[in-house]
Amino acid sequence: MYFDSHAHYDDESFDEDRDELLSGMPQKGVDFIINAAADMASCYKGIELADKYPFIYCSIGVHPHEVKDLEEKHIEELRTLVKRDKVVAIGEIGLDYYYDLSPRDDQRKWFKKQLELAKEFDLPVIIHSREASQETFDLVIESGVKEGVIHCFSGSKELAKEYVKRGFYIGIGGSLTFKNAKKTVEVVEEIPIQNILIETDCPYLTPIPFRGKRNDSSYLSYIAQKIAEIKGTDILTVSNITCQSAARLFRI
Ligand code: NI
Repeated sequence: MYFDSHAHYDDESFDEDRDELLSGMPQKGVDFIINAAADMASCYKGIELADKYPFIYCSIGVHPHEVKDLEEKHIEELRTLVKRDKVVAIGEIGLDYYYDLSPRDDQRKWFKKQLELAKEFDLPVIIHSREASQETFDLVIESGVKEGVIHCFSGSKELAKEYVKRGFYIGIGGSLTFKNAKKTVEVVEEIPIQNILIETDCPYLTPIPFRGKRNDSSYLSYIAQKIAEIKGTDILTVSNITCQSAARLFRI
């Protein structure tokens, strides 16, 4: 039983075989998938996928890379979309000071506005943060939002513990299996397994031994296996606990 807490099946790299791939997921032990939006177009595509497949749910929101083009009317549009049946979170939203594809002032402004939206509709958030760990944390806490997952967590173990203390979840993906994953391994060691969600972020971040290929939810077992090794438990325990945690967070 696997729950992919973060995937991008609206991505064009799935255009050729999306339906074939997705219809086979339950047979591969993947029971739930959250399709995470990155821009306005992917909000609509995610809702479409969720309408089509019973095991797909979706978030709506605009990624920091894309916020440079946002206008107030888009927040109004999100406010309408949020009421659709299988929209279970606001995301992925946050700050990315590594690529800086949107000006930082814009990133902060629209991150705050989308956090407010989550608060208004009492929804959990899916957070993207790169080279902006502390500022992301401060804005989340300031916003009063109390539920969410820090997707593909890249911060310190100390910060991970601060999130966990406040009831947040830490998203762990394929990068845990990479050779240079020391920091992420430490995070997994330090936090309770109950606060970990597993995710693919597909089509990106494919775990070893498939690194370099297109990622999909059927590779979650490689991440669960690695977590099981770190935690000294078995893969079934990891898949069950992370599935329950994700279902609790997204109220599925
Ligand atoms: Ni993502």
